[in-house]
Formats: sequence, structure tokens, C-alpha cells
Amino acid sequence: MEILVAPSILSADFLRLREDIQMINKSRADLFHLDIMDGRFVPNITFGFGIIKQIKTVAEKPLDVHLMIEEPDKYLEEFKNSGADYLSVHYETCPHLHRTVYAIKKLGMKAGVVINPHNPVELLTDIVNDADFFLLMSVNPGFGGQKFIAQTINRIRKLKNILKANNSKALIEVDGGVDLNNAKQLADAGANILVAGNSIFRTADPPETIAKLKAVSQNSISET
Ligand code: DX5
Ligand code: ZN
Repeated sequence: MEILVAPSILSADFLRLREDIQMINKSRADLFHLDIMDGRFVPNITFGFGIIKQIKTVAEKPLDVHLMIEEPDKYLEEFKNSGADYLSVHYETCPHLHRTVYAIKKLGMKAGVVINPHNPVELLTDIVNDADFFLLMSVNPGFGGQKFIAQTINRIRKLKNILKANNSKALIEVDGGVDLNNAKQLADAGANILVAGNSIFRTADPPETIAKLKAVSQNSISET
């Protein structure tokens, strides 16, 4: 499968957000990745419903909304109403994860489960046929521009094997420190969706970088 590229809006210029969104619209990117942080689950605060709604009026590609918030269940419907198409919740914030995943799907969104870098991917085994995608954090969540944690490559391979063993068609997304140096390795290991913030928005030619990230999957050895 072709790699999907999801530019992280956290690294965009919020004073010219419309232009940055239009640039992504015209690029080969597949999704908009939006990071929602509450200052409790992670040590940073970003933006909420009002901004998502405004982004939705300009964005021509689906919104992939990554919740780094405590008690996400309280807000699922409001994220749907704000324009989320993909909605992911952290394993670490959901005591009733199975219920949460089905609540997201019932609202008509793709449901994703995220795990932090220290949590074993085996934790996801009994939910592989319920969620639509799994997001492996390749940095500790909270900030853009952090260094990629190399162990993520092994984690993707392990999760891929678990998905295959259970005939799961769920996608694997990777988020944090993704760039042109590690993208090919990520695709080969089995990643399907690459989130990239700084490596896209801090380059001279962001659409070109997006095109190059997409191109890494052309020779990928991963089958799905
Ligand atoms: C980190 C966020 C990421 C972040 C990625 O907590 O979840 O989506 O924006 O940014 P880069 O690609 O710069 O690491
Ligand atoms: Zn994210």
C-alpha cells in the first residue's frame, strides 16, 4: 500500500494558517494531522474545537485528530461536530478503551489507538480487530521537533506481526521525529501513515518534501 502522509499542523505558521492549509491541499499529502493537548496528559496546550472548525472550512483532505487529553470520552461527539474524520485516543487515557473505540466508530469516524514509546505494543493485541488504526508515538508526546526514538522501528515490526497473526487490516501510523532519513525504514517495517511536522514545515520546499515522503513507499518491502 502507498504510504499516507499526514503533515502536522502544529508546526505550521498560525499567523498564516490559511496559506499553509492551502499548500497542503495542493500537495500530495493525504491527511491533516491535528494535535490536541490539554496541559494535563501532556505538558503542553494547543488548540480546541473552534480552531478545528475553522481549519475544516479550508482543508480539502480528511482531518486526523490526535487527542492528547485526559477523559477523551467526554468530547468525542464535539470532535466529530468540529470536523474530525480520524480520531485517535491514547491507550493511557482510556480505562474502557473498547467502549471508547466503538463510540468513535458509531459517530462515523475512523477510530485510532495511540501508545506512548514506553508501552509494549502487545498491549494492543486484544483490540487489533476493533480499531481502524494504531498510532505508535516515536517521541514522548507534547511537542513538535523532537528526536526520533530508534526503537520505534522494532515496535512497528512487532505490531505488524500481531496484526497479521490476527488478520487485522488496521493501519499503523507513526508520529514524532519522522523525516526523509527514517521514512523509508518506517515504511519497510510496516508503517502506513507518516505524520511529519518540522521535517515538512521547516524545509525550503514543503510540497517537495511531502512528495519525497510519499515516494519512500514505492520501493517498500512491506506488503500492506
Ligand atoms: C507530538 C505530536 C506530533 C508532532 C510531530 O506530541 O503528536 O504530531 O506535531 O512533530 P514532528 O514531526 O516535528 O516531531
Ligand atoms: Zn500527533
